[in-house]
Amino acid sequence: MPYAHITGWGMYVPEKVLTNDDLAQMVDTNDEWIRDRTGIRERRIAAKDETTASLAMEAASNALRIAKLPPTALDLIIVATSSPEYTFPSTASIVQDGIGARHAGAFDLSAACTGFIFALNMASQAIRSGQIKTALVIGSETLSRLVDWTDRNTCILFGDGAGAFVLQADDEPGGVLSAVMRSDGSGGDLLTIPGGGSKNPASAQTVLDGMHFIHMNGNEVFRFATRVMATASKEAIDKAGLEISDIALIVPHQANLRIIQAAARGLKLPMDRFMVNVDKYGNTSTASIPLAVCEAVEQGLLQRGDNTVMVGFGAGLTWGSLAVRWTGPFEEAKPIRLRPYRRAARLRSWLRRLWRFIEGLIWGRGKDSSA
Ligand code: ACO
Repeated sequence: MPYAHITGWGMYVPEKVLTNDDLAQMVDTNDEWIRDRTGIRERRIAAKDETTASLAMEAASNALRIAKLPPTALDLIIVATSSPEYTFPSTASIVQDGIGARHAGAFDLSAACTGFIFALNMASQAIRSGQIKTALVIGSETLSRLVDWTDRNTCILFGDGAGAFVLQADDEPGGVLSAVMRSDGSGGDLLTIPGGGSKNPASAQTVLDGMHFIHMNGNEVFRFATRVMATASKEAIDKAGLEISDIALIVPHQANLRIIQAAARGLKLPMDRFMVNVDKYGNTSTASIPLAVCEAVEQGLLQRGDNTVMVGFGAGLTWGSLAVRWTGPFEEAKPIRLRPYRRAARLRSWLRRLWRFIEGLIWGRGKDSSA
């Protein structure tokens, strides 16, 4: 049975930085409160022309470059996101077209901040089953578009960004070793965007009532998160047949430094065994774990052969973890240039649209083709 190795990783964050002091100009808060209660100093905010898909494509290209894998070799793309481009089509389909992954099936996965863990496990299982050989898993968010910038309880927490992993099959043991996926829908109301779905379809009233914004019971979510982070990590370590002493680094969802500190106490580990970058990016939901992994690799905290645990929680409620043996790019892979693939993707997309237009002229535009 093949193993699913992580052979590429990439991140992208928008240029615009929003500091705590900037926020203090917008709502009744201050830098000290935000740092003490959350550990966050600043977050990134997408520019007007940036979207969840555009951030995802930047991160994906960086990951493919590291894996030295052309987009045409991808079999599957999963985008985990809480702020999709549209209800449909999926953000993953837009990414598939944009990067020129012409052989890949693509879909979005919705599990809030745990989405990246769930998506990584699904892609890994598809590789383990022998059905596919390569997958791209992305966590991408423009949460700044879903935040009520007048609500100090939520607007201080979230930020924008994207992270991506390339997964490839190999017979050598390693890669994703075990996974834990859990849900408790009874807590669904604790963290929700109540408007715009089938329950409360978008209307002038839902907008007036602010139902299209993130609503959160912060204290309840905090308690839930501190309960599950350590136990989920332990479960993944046990399932992989490892001991906690075998784990070089734990990469937790970056929501709040105090939640990470509680997990460290629960696992009886010092904080230097945990990757933390919540101070720079805030909570980027599905993007937070891959962003933290990318920076851990950059800082030399995660190296080939190391065992790591990635652990997250989020709305749903959902939580999950993965034990991973870190691999890196396959040694035989040759560097690739992605720009020609991007250009070819744009041309291909344009030609497909043109062909659909011509087909419409031939068969009759607007006529029922089944008639
Ligand atoms: N600035 C200043 N004061 C504030 C602010 C602020 N931004 N926000 C709240 N306060 C006030 C409150 O009004 C309250 O005042 P009061 O005592 O006079 O009523 C006081 O500070 C304490 O508020 P708490 O809510 O008890 O503060 P707490 O220490 O619990 O921190 C926080 C709140 C940061 C939201 C915390 O509960 C938390 O991090 N929860 C988890 C949130 C989370 O991780 N969400 C994401 C989940 S992942 C996903 O799926 C998206």
